[in-house]
Amino acid sequence: MVPIKSFLVALATLAWQSSASPLLYSRGANGTGFVFTNANGLNFTQMNHTLPNITIFATGGTIAGSDSSSTATTGYTSGAVGVRALIDAVPSMLDIANVAGVQTANVGSEDITSDILISLSKQINKLVCDDSTMAGAVVTHGTDTLEETAFFLDATVNCGKPVIIVGAMRPSTAISADGPFNLLESVTVAASTKAKNRGAMIVMNDRIASAYYTTKTNANTMDTFKAMEMGFLGEMISNTPFFFYPPVQPTGKKDFDISNVKEIPRVDILFSYEDMHNDTLYNAVESGAKGIVIAGAGAGGVTTSFNYAMEDVINRLGIPIIQSMRTVNGEVPLSDVESNSATHIASGYLNPQKSRILLGLLLAKSSNITEIASTFALNTNA
Ligand SMILES: *[C@@H]1O[C@H](CO)[C@@H](O)[C@H](O)[C@H]1NC(C)=O
Ligand SMILES: *[C@@H]1O[C@H](CO)[C@@H](O)[C@H](O)[C@H]1NC(C)=O
Ligand SMILES: *[C@@H]1O[C@H](CO)[C@@H](O)[C@H](O)[C@H]1NC(C)=O
Ligand SMILES: *[C@@H]1O[C@H](CO)[C@@H](O)[C@H](O)[C@H]1NC(C)=O
Ligand SMILES: *[C@@H]1O[C@H](CO)[C@@H](O)[C@H](O)[C@H]1NC(C)=O
Ligand SMILES: *[C@@H]1O[C@H](CO)[C@@H](O)[C@H](O)[C@H]1NC(C)=O
Repeated sequence: MVPIKSFLVALATLAWQSSASPLLYSRGANGTGFVFTNANGLNFTQMNHTLPNITIFATGGTIAGSDSSSTATTGYTSGAVGVRALIDAVPSMLDIANVAGVQTANVGSEDITSDILISLSKQINKLVCDDSTMAGAVVTHGTDTLEETAFFLDATVNCGKPVIIVGAMRPSTAISADGPFNLLESVTVAASTKAKNRGAMIVMNDRIASAYYTTKTNANTMDTFKAMEMGFLGEMISNTPFFFYPPVQPTGKKDFDISNVKEIPRVDILFSYEDMHNDTLYNAVESGAKGIVIAGAGAGGVTTSFNYAMEDVINRLGIPIIQSMRTVNGEVPLSDVESNSATHIASGYLNPQKSRILLGLLLAKSSNITEIASTFALNTNA
């Protein structure tokens, strides 16, 4: 029975394969209907079976921004343009990939919430990772908090397919808006087999950067996304990616499965300064923070009074406190904080906003301070 059954299945498969014609639907006219819808309901503006398939998840931001003046690079409306208009504005991306769009949100990046992050990550896992016909994902995003979303996706989308986060510093209505080229380069990297198994990446201004370390270093200019000490993964020349090294993952990176996570507990960031009062810490805890990150002076430093208050909050309330740094570069080593108490946690090379994302993900799983400390310890060298 079994051999005959498998023979019949093989025959049926063969018949299906030979009768299935290659999918070839040329581009729909600009702005008009879609020509192909896949099994997950994703709409494509063209379907050429020889090209890789990419999904753009749009969240808003300057890349979708609009202003009536072509010289305005401030004061414009973020997230005014939908995902279809972004795809139509860069028709050359369709020479590289079949592109579908998903409008996940349409807000400035300050208004991205942890609920949006959870649904975005679950969408990418379902629509890209779990679909063998999809090559990769591109996420369009405002730049102000882009590095936080990039860090979250790096930790929670782990299928090896490229996930590219991209934004723009100039709105789409400005002269030499950077959005269209950034988007073209992002689709190109997402479609590249060389981009696999490198975690999430930020592609802007002709650079390919690791989501884990890269931060926004300038509030205004286009060359803003950098990891000063760790550098870039690669560069784009004439829209062709060049990676400096073979695929690697950052030291200390932890992968999370968030398929059962419904919310991320509140984590607040407190900035250290001369005369820092301890009541900001108590206020945060009273307001519902389940974890705290300190943007410490130098390697995690706070006032003596604040340090006593941290001891109190950790030991009495069991709330984890991560000591990070307000300087853009450097690390908070374990040896700088553990002298105070074994439960103080150093952020290592992670800045406050990335530490906050990591702590939120850890707290969503467990509030065990020992386990939280051991994950952060992977980012420190002493
Ligand atoms: C695809 O198009 C259909 C029909 O216009 C629409 O109902 C559906 O929401 C679209 N899918 C996505 C993912 O936007
Ligand atoms: C499909 O893509 C291939 C490879 O880029 C290209 O040579 C071919 O012309 C495309 N076909 C159509 C109908 O656009
Ligand atoms: C792109 O998607 C189509 C439709 O799902 C599929 O037939 C095709 O094989 C995919 N292309 C690649 C290169 O996987
Ligand atoms: C599609 O429409 C956009 C916006 O209206 C325009 O900038 C672009 O040039 C058009 N593309 C083509 C191929 O006509
Ligand atoms: C917090 O600061 C207040 C006012 O400076 C002080 O009275 C109090 O002792 C401090 N709390 C701790 C735990 O050190
Ligand atoms: C916290 O985690 C550590 C290491 O996994 C374990 O030994 C300890 O029992 C846990 N503590 C609690 C209160 O669950």
